[in-house]
Amino acid sequence: MTPSSTSAIIETDLRPDNLIVIKMAHIKKSFGGNKVLEDINLLLNKGENLVILGKSGTGKSVLIKCIAGLDVPDSGQLDILGKDISKLNEKELTGIHKKIGFLFQSGALYDSMTVRENLEFPLKRQQDSISKEKLESMVKEALLDVGLIETIDLSPSELSGGMRKRLGLARTLILRPEIMLYDEPTTGLDPITSKEISNLILTVQKKYNTSSIIITHDINCTRLTADRIIVIKDGICAAEGTYSDLKNSEDEWIKSFFE
Ligand SMILES: Nc1ncnc2c1ncn2[C@@H]1O[C@H](COP(=O)(O)OP(=O)(O)OP(=O)(O)O)[C@@H](O)[C@H]1O
Ligand SMILES: [Mg+2]
Repeated sequence: MTPSSTSAIIETDLRPDNLIVIKMAHIKKSFGGNKVLEDINLLLNKGENLVILGKSGTGKSVLIKCIAGLDVPDSGQLDILGKDISKLNEKELTGIHKKIGFLFQSGALYDSMTVRENLEFPLKRQQDSISKEKLESMVKEALLDVGLIETIDLSPSELSGGMRKRLGLARTLILRPEIMLYDEPTTGLDPITSKEISNLILTVQKKYNTSSIIITHDINCTRLTADRIIVIKDGICAAEGTYSDLKNSEDEWIKSFFE
């Protein structure tokens, strides 16, 4: 397959609707006069890891914030889990957003709480009447998933950058999201720790059958995790394909991401 422009993605990558978890059609987003997303068309399929590449400032974070409900597109259609989100009321929208996990670059941890409390916090907020036993078993499973069980009584400030990233992931996973959004999950980590995080992303995909969008500048993370890649340029999806499609592209600009 040759890398194609994504205006064609919606036509060529049609699958039964229940296998498409996110569909963006003609999404636009500006900030004042700064046109960031001009015409974004993309699909995320069930169980898929989709990597988004693009130079700094091209709007990758804005794109996933639109999905997470942290930014609102100016126009275009956004369907999440089969629902056109512009047609949902606030309660329905909250229900959809609860199914989306977001791994922020910072990990968004509370240093004033222990590791255990950082994991209990989102669970208690989600489920008012969760039993002590259930809380304990979910916290422990989440920590085992990311290999941090021994840190349960530490403060996040005592953890290394890679461990904080894993804890951020555990904190998101504990809510069992159907969709995971990773914003630069390996940035600032050494190559070995980055590889551990990439492998964790794969583990999460397999264990929970999550569908994920991964924004990264890390080409090893891309190679390890991507089922499919989209490259964003000038506010549109400029190319789409597998790792080897794009690495072997004849377009020098696309190839430059893989050097
Ligand atoms: N809330 C906001 N208000 C105004 N401008 C914003 C806002 N959020 C993003 N932008 C602008 O949108 C553009 C895209 O930002 P974004 O953070 O999505 O880039 P990015 O592709 O994620 O870059 P990087 O790879 O450096 O993280 C930038 O010009 C940024 O200044
Ligand atoms: Mg960004």
